[in-house]
This record gives sequence, structure tokens and C-alpha cells, in this order.
Amino acid sequence: MSLWRLSEIVRTVPNSPLSLAASVLSVSFLSLYILRSRPRRTSKVAQERERVLILGATSGVGRTIAHKYASRGAYVCIVGRREAKIGEVVQECKELSSQGGFEDRILGVRGDCGNVEDMVKLREALQKAWNGLDTLVVTAGVSALQPLMTVAGVEMSPKDTVGSQATPEGIQHAVNAATAALNGNFLGPYIAAITFVPLLSYTSQSPSIMLLSSVAAVIPAPTRTLYASTKSASLLLYQALAIEHPSIAFTFVLPGTIEGDFRASAVDNPLGSSVTRIHEADPNKHGLKRDTVAARCIRAIDSGEKAVFAPLYFRAGHILYWLWPSYIEWRARVKYNFSTS
Ligand SMILES: NC(=O)c1ccc[n+]([C@@H]2O[C@H](COP(=O)([O-])OP(=O)(O)OC[C@H]3O[C@@H](n4cnc5c(N)ncnc54)[C@H](OP(=O)(O)O)[C@@H]3O)[C@@H](O)[C@H]2O)c1
Repeated sequence: MSLWRLSEIVRTVPNSPLSLAASVLSVSFLSLYILRSRPRRTSKVAQERERVLILGATSGVGRTIAHKYASRGAYVCIVGRREAKIGEVVQECKELSSQGGFEDRILGVRGDCGNVEDMVKLREALQKAWNGLDTLVVTAGVSALQPLMTVAGVEMSPKDTVGSQATPEGIQHAVNAATAALNGNFLGPYIAAITFVPLLSYTSQSPSIMLLSSVAAVIPAPTRTLYASTKSASLLLYQALAIEHPSIAFTFVLPGTIEGDFRASAVDNPLGSSVTRIHEADPNKHGLKRDTVAARCIRAIDSGEKAVFAPLYFRAGHILYWLWPSYIEWRARVKYNFSTS
């Protein structure tokens, strides 16, 4: 119901219980609106002075975010593990920022977020080049795409009363997959937070951290046991950190499937197989556009939004899971083409 509609009720039926409820609601909405509409961050950190570190910028959404910051003249540092890709993205960003004469503001540093030494060297490089940091964007992550028993090499169907069990080798294989998923999706963001939270706090007028999480971190799905649980771990880590560090604006973006090659990073091929089976519809036909997600991330950082679902209706799906879990479970089975019969 809009504020206008509420004020109409108050005006046309004064002193009724409905009018009283409408007045209370109007005041609540107004207070919420005033509280939420804080001054945009860009009034404290000008767009062309913003120092932005992007962990995971050699491809996908991180790369597009780098392009967008470069286009608006920001200082941008591109980080990833693939050296050759870093060179490419640095070149692209320099071309974009050269239109404003800012091409000397682009840095590229090879680094693995899960490696303490790499992250400390990166921090030293930023202190030397920029004297600090305003915005940390964490997009680095790895995918995991298979049903868990498949990863462990167990074949079973619900109709079986006797069937295969997980062998020690199969369990170990699944543990190795979990270790890789944890390293990519939890330890990377964990090490990044410990390395950069103090630097952001000491050197920025308006420090900000954006974690590119996933809707899978809050709505469970079949074939996503490892991916969802490790993305969920980093989301909760950053949500709790946000309370420990109120001077830093934390933003969490939770998108659904995005176009691109993310599935190539899968760490959970089944035991004895090197083939990655994709269970859902082609992300390049049905996924969100990288450009849309990147633009939404930057808008959320600029305006200090806390949690952003993309598309928005996933926010309702998140709530609905707790009210009517079987409906959401059915929808998730359909999306991932997953049948237990
Ligand atoms: N694609 C989707 O459908 C989807 C949906 C929801 C959420 N997300 C999340 O969005 C994020 C980005 O996904 P994307 O689609 O853009 O995938 P992507 O193209 O594979 O990009 C991932 C980026 O992270 C980097 N990276 C991975 N591990 C790293 C590490 N340990 N250290 C440094 N860099 C690392 C990769 O570069 P290097 O390989 O060069 O290191 C790459 O630049 C991920 O966190 C993912 O969980 C994706």
C-alpha cells in the first residue's frame, strides 16, 4: 500500500480504528524511508577518487565491475590467479579510463585470495600505490554442481533396499571436493576480510565491502550441497563482521544464475570422472546478464544497501522457504532437473 493511499484513508475516515492503523503505518513507513535514505556514499568518496580492489576480476561479473569503475575514473586494482587474464583486463580498463585521462589509475596484481602471503603482498602494493583503500569487492568463488552421493561415487535410488555404499576412496574424494570449495568460497573471503578490514577502516572516509554471494546461500537446492553451504558460510561470516565493524558499509548481493563460464570452475567432478555434468538450463541462454548484475552491485555499494536479491522476487522465495518449504523444494527440484525416483 502506498503512502498516498494511507493518507487518503486517514483523511476520509477520521477517528476510525482503520484510520488509526493507517496513521501508525504512515509514520512507520516515513521513519523507515528517512532512516534508509542516508546520503549517498559518493558525497564522501568522489567517484573519480574511489580506490577499488576487486578480488576475482579476471573474468565474469568481477571483470565487468572493473570495466564500470574504470569508466567512471576510479582507481581500480584487478586481482585473480590467471596472470595472462590480468594483463587483458588491465588493458581493457586502461582503454576505458583513458577517455578521462585516468589510465595510470589501473593496477593488476596476480594473487590467490586463499593465500595469506599473496594477500599481504597485495595490501603492501595498495598502500604504496594508493596510500589506502575505499572499496573491497569480493567476487572470487568456485562452483560445485553435483549431487553429493554422485561426487562420492555412490549410485543409489530411493527404491533400492540394498545398494552401493561410499568407499573410503569415495568419501576421501568428496572430502577433497569440500576442501576445494571451502578454500575458494570461504577461506578466500575470510583471509581477504582479515587482511583488508583494518586498511579500509584507517584510510577511507567511507569504507565499503561488497560480497558477491548467491541466492543459493539462503535457498537450498539439489546438486548445490557444497556450493550452497560454502557460499552460506562466507555470507554469514561477512554479516557477522558487519556488526563487529559498523563503520564499514557491508553489501551482500545474492543473484540467481548468471551468464558466463562459472561452471567451468567446478571442484566436485564425480570420483573417476573428469566430465562436469550441468543439471540446469543453459546459463548463457537463461541466466542474468553480467552487465545487469555488475551495475546492480555498484549501485548497491554507492547507496550503502545491505542485502540485494537479483531478481528481487528471490527475497520472497527466501521468506517462503520458512513458511512453505515443500513448495520451494519442489521449485528447486524443477530448476535443477532433479528427480529422486
Ligand atoms: N555464475 C553464476 O551463475 C553465479 C550465480 C550466483 C552467484 N555467483 C557468484 O558470483 C561470483 C562470480 O562468478 P562469475 O560468474 O563471475 O564466475 P567466474 O567468471 O568464474 O569469475 C570468478 C572469478 O574469481 C576468480 N577467482 C576464483 N578463485 C579465486 C581465488 N582463490 N583467488 C583469486 N581469484 C579467484 C577467478 O579468476 P582466476 O581463475 O583467474 O583466479 C575469476 O576472475 C562467484 O563468487 C559466484 O559464487 C555466480
